[in-house]
Amino acid sequence: MGQPTPARTDRDWWRDAVIYQVYVRSFADGDGDGTGDLAGVRARLPYLAELGVDALWFTPWYLSPLKDGGYDVADYRTIDPAFGTLAEAEKLIAEAAGSGIRTIVDIVPNHVSDQHPWFRAALAAGPGSPERELFHFRPGRGPHGELPPNDWPSQFAGSTEPVWTRLPDGDWYLHLFTPEQPDLNWAHPAVRREHEEILRFWFERGVAGVRIDSAALLAKDPDLPDLAADPEPHPFLDRDELHDIYRSWRRVADEYDGVFVGEVWLPDPERFARYLRPDELHTAFNFSFLTCPWDAGRLRAAIDTTLAEHAPVGAPATWVLCNHDVTRTVTRYGRADTAFDFATKAFGTPTDLALGTRRARAAALLSLALPGAVYLYQGEELGLPEAGIPLESIQDPMHFRSGGTDPGRDGCRVPLPWAADLPYAGFGSREEPWLPQPADWPSYAVDRQRRDPHSMLSLYRTAIALRRVFGDGPLTWLPAPDGVLAFARADALCVVNLSATPAPLPAHSRLLLGSGPLDDTGRLPRDTAAWLRV
Ligand code: NOJ
Repeated sequence: MGQPTPARTDRDWWRDAVIYQVYVRSFADGDGDGTGDLAGVRARLPYLAELGVDALWFTPWYLSPLKDGGYDVADYRTIDPAFGTLAEAEKLIAEAAGSGIRTIVDIVPNHVSDQHPWFRAALAAGPGSPERELFHFRPGRGPHGELPPNDWPSQFAGSTEPVWTRLPDGDWYLHLFTPEQPDLNWAHPAVRREHEEILRFWFERGVAGVRIDSAALLAKDPDLPDLAADPEPHPFLDRDELHDIYRSWRRVADEYDGVFVGEVWLPDPERFARYLRPDELHTAFNFSFLTCPWDAGRLRAAIDTTLAEHAPVGAPATWVLCNHDVTRTVTRYGRADTAFDFATKAFGTPTDLALGTRRARAAALLSLALPGAVYLYQGEELGLPEAGIPLESIQDPMHFRSGGTDPGRDGCRVPLPWAADLPYAGFGSREEPWLPQPADWPSYAVDRQRRDPHSMLSLYRTAIALRRVFGDGPLTWLPAPDGVLAFARADALCVVNLSATPAPLPAHSRLLLGSGPLDDTGRLPRDTAAWLRV
């Protein structure tokens, strides 16, 4: 499929990297206060180096009231004191680089915190002021301005809450997410200037890349028309102006050899690929793979579509199974509906964790064999399930904004278990961590899994070390029975059996790695993957 990629240089590291997502608040608690922090990450760098990842993507670590887990930024140049200091972030970036691990920071350009100085100034300055032009302030509709300026829906899936909030002075302001996350006005030159300076600020500190939050939402139709009027183009999603913004970001990144990964949720593969043109973003998250059910035909189609959409623009694909916003992989694959969809999340969905774990192991070998970069979300390498969070401990605004029907995203954000026999499974806290850990958390602890050659951690570690056998070229599908995926890259094969019956392995010289044992006759059991040498 596609053209072989040209010889890989160190500058191309991102084209086939394994990138580990660190949700700082839940990774490791260095100071014992119940919240993960940079000290915790620094202490665990040897673990990450041993796992073999090429880069770390840190979810926002900036000053924030944490109304949306840090995606409500009050100051991009300050680290939140709950996590550490700027000096510590600089040390972390340097120490990680010393272990051969690059750093990716998370920039949230669509909105800021309502505590950001720009928004506070806008509130103070009043209607019609230049300060308010940095955001989307509008008078309301109706005889007394008591109705919101338009009918846009919240971008928190399942939310029935409005995207406009009215101030005592009568003006309304737009927030596609929570009221504490006012949307910036990207038609304003100061907004563009500021973000390019923020990019420089972090590139100057040695980061290798930037993840762009809600990357397809920034630009708005200045008339803010109702969606019901079916305006063309869409008034806030995937607007053409975005490409000019990202071209100028790319010029900044190129000065530092920095790379971008965009959070671009778009169903249309052609529109998606436009963000990956050579002078725009380097990569974007592959949500069609993440949302795909555990089904051979659907997965193969998702892989083919992904490769086909990336080929014309020369961008590498990314393979993502989960992140801090979605149901953890072993849980999702253990349910009747193995697709991910924000709309169908519910409390109390029956789950077979043994089944889900078997499939997640197979999916790990599938993703790590595909051409492109792989994103791994902290705890995925431990096979952590989605945790049930007691109602009174839920913190995620997605839960509250759904009127309590959506369980929210805290279940995939629970503090990691490091040591089975220590308090709070070795997370490091002296007191209850910010989210409670389930009672069986110690059984997933790193120290246990490290000693067990059959653990999820051992599988990931071995697979990451071995995946270079697949080279950096394209894949070729091999004939295979129904429900079995088989492809070759370089002189290695990846076979995944999603059918109900054991499958014979294609001709090979050596079994390199299996996500589970073969059966007595040497066939690949259901929900199992194998890497073979030919
Ligand atoms: C996407 C982030 O991944 C999510 O966690 C956040 O709530 C929204 N963007 C808003 O910033």
